[in-house]
Amino acid sequence: MNSKNATPKYSLFRNWLSLIGLVVTLGSLFSFALLLTFDALSSEASPYLGILTFVVSPMFLVFGMLLIGLGWLMHRRQVHKSLPGSPPPFLQIDFTRARDRRNLAVFFAGGLVFLLFAAMGSYHTYHFAESEMFCGQTCHPPMKPEYTAYTNSPHARVACTACHVGPGPTSFVKAKLNGVNQLQATLRNTYHRPIKTPIEGMRLAQETCEKCHWPKKFVGSLDRTFTRFLSDDDNTPVTTRLSLKVGGGDPTHGPVGGIHWHMNLGNKVEYIATDEKRQVIPWVRLTNTKGEVTEFRTKDFKDDPAKHTIRSMDCMACHNRPAHHFRAPGDAVDLAMSIGKIDPKLKAIKKNAVEVLSQDYATEAEALSKIAASLKTNYVNAANLDASIAAVQQIYRQNIFPEMKASWKVYPDNIGHKNWAGCFRCHDGQHKTADGKSAIGASDCNDCHTVISQVKGSMTDPLEGKRAKFEHPDAASEGTARDCTTCHSVSQ
Ligand code: HEC
Ligand code: HEC
Ligand code: HEC
Ligand code: HEC
Ligand code: HEC
Ligand code: HEC
Repeated sequence: MNSKNATPKYSLFRNWLSLIGLVVTLGSLFSFALLLTFDALSSEASPYLGILTFVVSPMFLVFGMLLIGLGWLMHRRQVHKSLPGSPPPFLQIDFTRARDRRNLAVFFAGGLVFLLFAAMGSYHTYHFAESEMFCGQTCHPPMKPEYTAYTNSPHARVACTACHVGPGPTSFVKAKLNGVNQLQATLRNTYHRPIKTPIEGMRLAQETCEKCHWPKKFVGSLDRTFTRFLSDDDNTPVTTRLSLKVGGGDPTHGPVGGIHWHMNLGNKVEYIATDEKRQVIPWVRLTNTKGEVTEFRTKDFKDDPAKHTIRSMDCMACHNRPAHHFRAPGDAVDLAMSIGKIDPKLKAIKKNAVEVLSQDYATEAEALSKIAASLKTNYVNAANLDASIAAVQQIYRQNIFPEMKASWKVYPDNIGHKNWAGCFRCHDGQHKTADGKSAIGASDCNDCHTVISQVKGSMTDPLEGKRAKFEHPDAASEGTARDCTTCHSVSQ
């Protein structure tokens, strides 16, 4: 190709190393384009995909370009060395030479395989980035508390991204930036402990929860049994069975009323929270279906509402722990005792278990060993103690995370009113209209639920209700036949 005395021309790709670099470069560009397309096409892409698209694939790009450069430099040195004598050992491919043919075949096959891997790799990383395993486990330890609680929640099979990343181009870009920021915080170890709640800029419930839960559904009443144990020596059980008046908020699918009355379908409820965790709500504005506006405020709140952020109530104002419920020790121990995982016959076990779970520990390992030690000294010679100790330890592992400082103490649950103010943030009888005449309704004990039964001293079966005889609506048919279809069958 080159004559002996011509000025050497260095060609960028006339060496194997640069060619390999070229393939790596092309492969990374290819993955980048592919990831970007997946991302653009999917409705709920993971924010973390951005890390792969904008961090990992460019890293390969740089690596490929470095290889090209290195190959070129080495090639140049060789050319210099070989001058002026023999012809420079440029990459000369001579198809008549078997060695060259073989090298070329290997090169093309290798290049093809690499590109294929790049495509497959991009596709798999794309799916992986969307998975809860990526969100919850790869980002260990900051996500450990949320991930653990999530795996024990009714939403354990719902992807993190279904609630945390909504569709649409703005959320897409925002999520991308967020993902990269989070990676940085993880690498630099600068994330908050615990992770802050509520999440600023959480997607609206309309774009997440309501994609699966139809807000117009009329739920009716929900029957819930709360089994509790007192902190006395006998662990006296107290069972309260409530009929929760969940109701509905849409007039076309049932009467509007009950707890789901404030779903922002007809009636709109807005509020101001003066603390970060939205536990103090001194001002509430109600706009009813007729457009009439009523403002309620507590005595101490004299500010101009316009100076504060006014939020609309949505699902998450009440259901703020649908996937990450960090149970308080008392609640968790009650549950474990009610299903026999902690032996309710152990003297004062309720009190002792709650006490040992409520201590501050530096690490999980320390907590687990101290829990075992403490219970062992409390119950010398008790039979089957090991199972109860294991259950208490499991409660700790699933609900309390000392390394992340995450627990029931820092993550409020707004659904009821026992451990946190919850509904009573507004329904406390203290939020009044300007004339002071009326307060927010539904503050009576039977407004949100009716007590069906309450039993102290024995556990009742949560599936067992008060028995009453069904009286047939048509008096003449009362007691006539057990087979309802004899008269009611649609074929008659
Ligand atoms: C059913 C919906 C849903 C799913 C699924 C879900 N989350 Fe959440 N997550 C929420 C809600 C609601 C909040 C509270 C937001 C608020 O109050 O503003 C939250 C809060 C968080 C927080 C902030 C800290 C806290 O506990 O309040 C983190 C971190 C988090 N989620 C991570 C995850 C991870 C990781 C996954 C998947 C393993 C996941 N979430 C799955 C609904 C969900
Ligand atoms: C991808 C679909 C999906 C999304 C998004 C989703 N959910 Fe659910 N949710 C479900 C399913 C499925 C169940 C039923 C689980 C079961 O009973 O096994 C459920 C159950 C529930 C329950 C009943 C829980 C119980 O204890 O019985 C509540 C409350 C709830 N979801 C609230 C929410 C809220 C609030 C959001 C938004 C933050 C949300 N969901 C987002 C699918 C979803
Ligand atoms: C005012 C507070 C509040 C708001 C707002 C609210 N809920 Fe509920 N919801 C409740 C309560 C209380 C229950 C009873 C269950 C319980 O106590 O755990 C309930 C029950 C449910 C259930 C369980 C129903 C069943 O059949 O098991 C689902 C699902 C649900 N809500 C979804 C939603 C969705 C979706 C939204 C938003 C569109 C929403 N809720 C808004 C308070 C609320
Ligand atoms: C941000 C304030 C706020 C929170 C939090 C809140 N509510 Fe309400 N709720 C209201 C307002 C305002 C009304 C309308 C009261 C009125 O008309 O006097 C209302 C009305 C109701 C009603 C009566 C609906 C009807 O049929 O007229 C029920 C029941 C109710 N709420 C239950 C709950 C429950 C249960 C919770 C907690 C899970 C809760 N609320 C949390 C503000 C709130
Ligand atoms: C604004 C609505 C509302 C009012 C008013 C209200 N409750 Fe409740 N209450 C709830 C909800 C919602 C739950 C269910 C919490 C859950 O699902 O964990 C609940 C749960 C309970 C429980 C079960 C607690 C547990 O965890 O064992 C008891 C007991 C109870 N309420 C008693 C009362 C009493 C007594 C009053 C009157 C002082 C009252 N409630 C007023 C909404 C209300
Ligand atoms: C001997 C015939 C007969 C038998 C058997 C019978 N029913 Fe009925 N049922 C009637 C008649 C007649 C009415 C009144 C229908 C009306 O007024 O529209 C009625 C009305 C009702 C209604 C209210 C209206 C409706 O259509 O839902 C219910 C609920 C009902 N029956 C339930 C039952 C059940 C449950 C059984 C089986 C345990 C049963 N019935 C067995 C004859 C019967």
